[in-house]
Amino acid sequence: MYVILNAAMSIDGKISTRNNDSSISSKMDFVRVHKLRSSVDGIVIGISTVLKDNPMLNVRYFTNGAKNPTRIIIDSNARIPLDSRIIKSSKKIQTIIAITHNASSKKVKEIENKGARVLVTGNGKVSIRKLFQKLERMGLRKILVEGGGEINWSVIKLGIINELIVTISPLVIGGRDAKTLVEGEGFANISDGIKLKLSNTIIQNNNEIVLFYKLR
Ligand SMILES: NC(=O)c1ccc[n+]([C@@H]2O[C@H](COP(=O)([O-])OP(=O)(O)OC[C@H]3O[C@@H](n4cnc5c(N)ncnc54)[C@H](OP(=O)(O)O)[C@@H]3O)[C@@H](O)[C@H]2O)c1
Repeated sequence: MYVILNAAMSIDGKISTRNNDSSISSKMDFVRVHKLRSSVDGIVIGISTVLKDNPMLNVRYFTNGAKNPTRIIIDSNARIPLDSRIIKSSKKIQTIIAITHNASSKKVKEIENKGARVLVTGNGKVSIRKLFQKLERMGLRKILVEGGGEINWSVIKLGIINELIVTISPLVIGGRDAKTLVEGEGFANISDGIKLKLSNTIIQNNNEIVLFYKLR
């Protein structure tokens, strides 16, 4: 499986404000991200991002014959609202809700009735490793991880990302409760950190930098 992690952050590393406002990057960056979406088999996000942003997670800004990838939501307890944009559109766009055995079977049935597929892995939290193995067996070979910070950590700590793409917008947001690019427990030692090499940089709107890294 090939895994790409993409995010937009402020200069101080925040991916949203303390009020969960995450409209950080430019229209030009949305076009780049939607083109990237159209090139992958699946997009992975965490349930907190669904609850806070209610995203559609489809391809909109780049429509040049583009297909919508499968949307995969990591949601241990099946908290996803049935009236979320993702669930409401799951008969039209393939959708997977990745849960654990903790989720109520009633909610699982309701989700399936709306057209989404449910995959069960892990105890307590979704096992990202097992989930990705299942996705690969289903033919999803190229995955785009789009956050938030907790999911980014869970994917990064497994050492399974092949590329990391980060847009740095010319903003300083601050706030100890504002989410950063990578949350979770974090590594204790610099030597344990995931080592990357810079493969490309672009400047958008004379203002915003996109950094492309590959696993070293
Ligand atoms: N700027 C950007 O590029 C960007 C992109 C995406 C999101 N965001 C922002 O990021 C914020 C949300 O980020 P977040 O860090 O709070 O949440 P998140 O990463 O979206 O979701 C985290 C949740 O996923 C569930 N989960 C299940 N299994 C997990 C596992 N193995 N590892 C990690 N999480 C697991 C947990 O909830 P359960 O225990 O209930 O399952 C956990 O609380 C929002 O404000 C959003 O706007 C910004």
